[in-house]
Order: sequence, then C-alpha cells, then structure tokens
Amino acid sequence: MEQKREKFSSSFSVFFATLSSAVGLGNIWMFPYVVGVNGGAAFIIIYLGCVLVVGLPTLISEFVIGRGTRKNVYGAIKEVTNKKVFRSISTIGILATYVLLFFYTVVAGWVYSYVFKAIVGTFKGIDAAGATKIFNDTSIGPVSPIIGQLLVLIVAGTIIAMGVKGGIEKLTRITMPILMGLLLLLAIRSLTLDGAMEGVSFLLKPDFSKISIGTFLAALGLAFFKLSVGTGSMITYSSYFTDDNNLIATGVKVSIADTAVSLIAGLAIFPAVFSFGLEPSSGPGLLFNTVPLIFSKMPGGSFLVVIFFFLAAMAATTASISLLEVLIATFTEEFKFSRKKALVINVAIILAFGSLAALSANPEGLLAEIKIFNFSIFDAFDALISNILLPLNGLLIILLCGFSIKKGFVRDELTNGGTLNNEGIVSILLFIMRYITPILIIVIFLKTFI
Ligand code: PFF
Repeated sequence: MEQKREKFSSSFSVFFATLSSAVGLGNIWMFPYVVGVNGGAAFIIIYLGCVLVVGLPTLISEFVIGRGTRKNVYGAIKEVTNKKVFRSISTIGILATYVLLFFYTVVAGWVYSYVFKAIVGTFKGIDAAGATKIFNDTSIGPVSPIIGQLLVLIVAGTIIAMGVKGGIEKLTRITMPILMGLLLLLAIRSLTLDGAMEGVSFLLKPDFSKISIGTFLAALGLAFFKLSVGTGSMITYSSYFTDDNNLIATGVKVSIADTAVSLIAGLAIFPAVFSFGLEPSSGPGLLFNTVPLIFSKMPGGSFLVVIFFFLAAMAATTASISLLEVLIATFTEEFKFSRKKALVINVAIILAFGSLAALSANPEGLLAEIKIFNFSIFDAFDALISNILLPLNGLLIILLCGFSIKKGFVRDELTNGGTLNNEGIVSILLFIMRYITPILIIVIFLKTFI
C-alpha cells in the first residue's frame, strides 16, 4: 500500500520532535555515569567541543539529506549518491538502529520498573545497600528484564502506530517542556543539599590529569549518541520537517537544549552523590543506585522519585520511538509493508536479540558469562554503537555532504533555496564540514585504535 507522506505541522513541532529523539537515557542515565567514570569537568569540556565541532555539523548534514529527499534512510541515501562507500550509510545506519534498540530498551525497561517501584513505595527509607539490592533484583532473573523491555516496545509501538502527526508530534509537544521544567526543579533541590558544592566543583573544575586518548573517543561517541546522529534517525525525522524550516537554526537549538538537559541532569545527580558520600564513578548503575537513595532522604522524596522516573521513562520512550521510526519508514516505503506489519516484525526482531542484552546486563544475569572480546553481550552492543558504528557512520555522512552530493543540493537545503540570506554562515559551516569535522573524527579513531 502506498502511504501518503506526513509532515510535522510547524517549526515548533519540528523542534520538539527532534529534541525528543535527542533527549533520552543518554542525558539522564548515560551522561552522568560517563562523566563520573571519566573524571568530571575535563571530560565535559572535551564533550562540549565534540558537540560543537563534530556532532552539530553531522546533525545538520542528516537534516540536509532527510529534508532534501523526503525519504526514509535507505531511499534517501540511494537518491543522493551512487558511490558504494556512501551507499553503506543506510546499511550501517539500520544495523546501528537495531543494535542500539537491543540495549536501549533494556535500560528503558529498568526505568519503567522503577516508576512502578516508586509508586508502590519500594524506596521508602532505604540505604545504599538497599538501593543496590533493588537495582540487582530489577536487572537479573530469567524474565523480569525482558518484561520491562517488552513493555517499552509496546508503548513505543502504540504511539508509532498512531502516525507522525497524531502520535509523535502530539506526544512530544507535551512531554518535552514538562520534562525540562521538572528536571530543573530536581536540580535546584539537589543543589540545596548539605555538601552539594563538592558535586558542583566535580562538574565545573577540570582536572586534566584524568584525560587519556580513550576519553576523546568516549566524548565523541557520547556526542553522536546524544544528538541521535549516525543511525539515520535524524534523516528520517527531517524527512517530515516543514519546507520553511531553517535547518541550521534547528540544529543549533536542538544541540543547545540537549546539552542543557544533560548538564541539568548532572546538576541534579552529582551534588547529591557527593552530599551522600556515594561513588561518582560507579558506572551504569549510577542513576538507579543513587537517585532513589537521594529522594528517600528528602522531604517530599517519595513523590519526587515517582516524577523523576516517570520523566526518565517518557524521555526513553520518545527516543526509542525515533529509532523505531527509522525501521518503520524504511519497511513501509521500501518494502511496501503496512505500518502495523512493519511494527510487529521489528518488535519481534528487537525482542529476540534484545533479550540477549537484557539477560547479560548484570554480572548475575543468566547470560552474563558469555563474553565477546571480554565484554558482556550488553556491554558489547553498547561499545559497538558508541565506539564504532555511530562515529563511523557520522564520518561517512559528513564526507558525503561535504564532498560528494552535488553542491547546489546542500546549499539549497541550508539556505531554503536562497530565501534565508544566510550565505555567510553556510560557507563557514561547509568549511567546517569538509575540513575540520572529518579530520577530527579520523584523528580520534586512528589515535585510539592504532
Ligand atoms: N539520543 C538518545 C539519547 O540520548 O538517549 C539516544 C538515541 C536515539 C541515539 C536515537 C541514536 C538515535 F538514533
């Protein structure tokens, strides 16, 4: 069945929908723990550099390809290039989308289970040992992690089934502003705890002795992950953008807002981590082991903890939707599947492989003993995404836009056919896209792997 292509209805909707892909577990779960593991402020400075010089230009490149073709990732890449190396962007993008969903839905499932636990009062009066025990109960066992994952896929799938306008646009216009407002409230609460300033200085005072070459790849991978670049997610969403949308402005606004949400999440978590004498470098469990503890020791905490995990669940869901939409758009437009059939098939695939991630995420998990290059399956999926697939595809996308697509195409999209009067900015951006971004990615890759 030929589907009529939908579009977002305004620039306002474009902004919130795009932001809802960018803002997710990356901000609330991954950013704090990666900052914690990599020593705080010095890492944040490198990360900000990566967002500005690498992530943002690549994000805008995806917008150019998506809106310029108004197709799914596979169709879009086929339309703009016939070079084999660049044609691989859609294959790598779709592979990255699956792998990302395999482990992302696991963590999203933990968050869902925490909403439930918060509502029934599991966190009342717990101590650090209690918090760790609850996290382990959630993430191990034969079925519980898979149930959470299934629930995430059902919720995300239901919203996707409602379509671009009815589902994605309507939901994200409501959830994004609420999420940002409440996160700010949490940060203010955390900052007023005794001893909070130690956490603030961890986030603001750089200690460059903690930087190694690995830090750069971690920052680069996080920047791509955060801005949803490299999977084709932003190519897909921008194929629904309005004709008059200013792509550069949208890229800048989304990058600033996404970074702001990450920093606010950091300001909500680290002051409390230090105030309660917890360990900032405790890894992927940081969010789950600290937040309930923080709230359990706060007036109004049993209410705030529900709100916090509900927000995290919403953010995880809307980011998952943007990933699923890559697959649904490709299956419906290229293989002529109905939206429903595409959804059912993809949810089944994600559940089949994702359950391997779910059962290996925790050292006590059923499949935790299986190692791939010394990584558990869960960690291997994560590393494959952040260290290889996203940066590699980002590199190909920026090279495609900078050098291979015909020049008029890129300029036309960036200036809206010359109506935006932004020639100067476009020239600077094109220079960065051609000569700075790719070189930086290549140098970081070479330095890390050789
Ligand atoms: N940007 C999302 C987050 O920070 O949680 C994750 C993500 C979504 C990555 C979509 C990639 C993607 F295509």
